[in-house]
Amino acid sequence: MKKFLVIGNPISHSLSPKLHNYWIKKNNLDSIYGKLEINENELAEICENLKQGKLNGINITVPFKKAIIPYVNVLSGHALRTNSINTISLDNGNLIGHNTDIDGFELSIKKLNYDLRNKTIIILGAGGVVPSIIYALKRMNAAKIIISNRTKEKALELKNLFKDLIVLDWGDLAEFDMIINATSIGLKEDDNFEIDFTKVGKNKFFYDVIYQPYKTNFYQAGNQEGNIFEDGLSMFLYQAQKAFNIWHKIEPVIDEEVINFLNNPNYEIKK
Ligand code: ATR
Repeated sequence: MKKFLVIGNPISHSLSPKLHNYWIKKNNLDSIYGKLEINENELAEICENLKQGKLNGINITVPFKKAIIPYVNVLSGHALRTNSINTISLDNGNLIGHNTDIDGFELSIKKLNYDLRNKTIIILGAGGVVPSIIYALKRMNAAKIIISNRTKEKALELKNLFKDLIVLDWGDLAEFDMIINATSIGLKEDDNFEIDFTKVGKNKFFYDVIYQPYKTNFYQAGNQEGNIFEDGLSMFLYQAQKAFNIWHKIEPVIDEEVINFLNNPNYEIKK
C-alpha cells in the first residue's frame, strides 16, 4: 500500500486527506493519505522517510512551503521560480519538489473566464501561497500587481522574486479590479479586516484563498450586487488534482459529487 501525507502546522483544518482518500477510493488504488502536524525540526526526518520509501509522496502546507526546499534533490521550474513547494514525489531515490498551487490558482480563474489583461490586482497578505499567486497572475498577463501585508517587510521581500510588485502600507487601498485575500483573516468566526471595502465601487472581483471563509467584511463586500466573489475551494481542488496526477498518473474528476462530499460531513459516496 502506498502512503501519502500532508504536513503543516496547524493541520487539523486540512481537507486534503478527505479529498485524496475520496479519489483513491474512486480509482480503486491501494493507497492511503494522512495528515501530520509537525515542527520545522522534523522536516529532515520526514524527507528521509520519503527517500527510504516509507512514504510515497507528501503535500506541504503552511508554514513549511519554503522551509522544505533544502531537503529536496530537484526543484521543478515552478517551485524554483516561487521558492515554494507544496508537493514532493520520488523518482529513482530523488525527491522532486513541485508547486501545484500555481496551476491551482490559474485554473480557478480560467474556470470563471475572468480575463486578467489590463487588470490591477491587490493582494492582501504575504504568506506561503502568495508567490504562487503572483506567478500565476503574471502568467495570465495581469497588468499591475499591488501587495499589502501587515508586516510590510514580508511584502518587500517578495520584490526579490518579483521586481515590479508595488507595495502598499497595510490598511491602504488603491484603485483595483480584483482583490485577493491571502491572509488568514476569515479562518475564524468574527474575523474582520480593519480595511473599509464599502467605498471601492462596483464590478470588483473579490477572491478569498480560504476555502470556507467566514462572513468577514471582505466576504460581504464581494457578495454585494455588481461584484464577483470566489472562495478558495476551486484552487484547493485543482492543486490537489495536479498533485494526485503527479503521484498516481491519473487525473481525478472534479465534479458536483466531490464538492458536495467535501462540504457535507455525512455525504455518501456513490461507487
Ligand atoms: P505564513 O506567513 O507563516 O506563511 P500564512 O498563513 O501563509 O502563514 O500567512 C498568514 C498571512 O496572514 C500573513 O500575511 C499575515 O500577516 P503577517 O505577515 O503580518 O503575519 C496575515 N495575517 C494573519 N492575521 C492577520 C491579521 N489579524 N491582520 C492582518 N494580517 C494578518
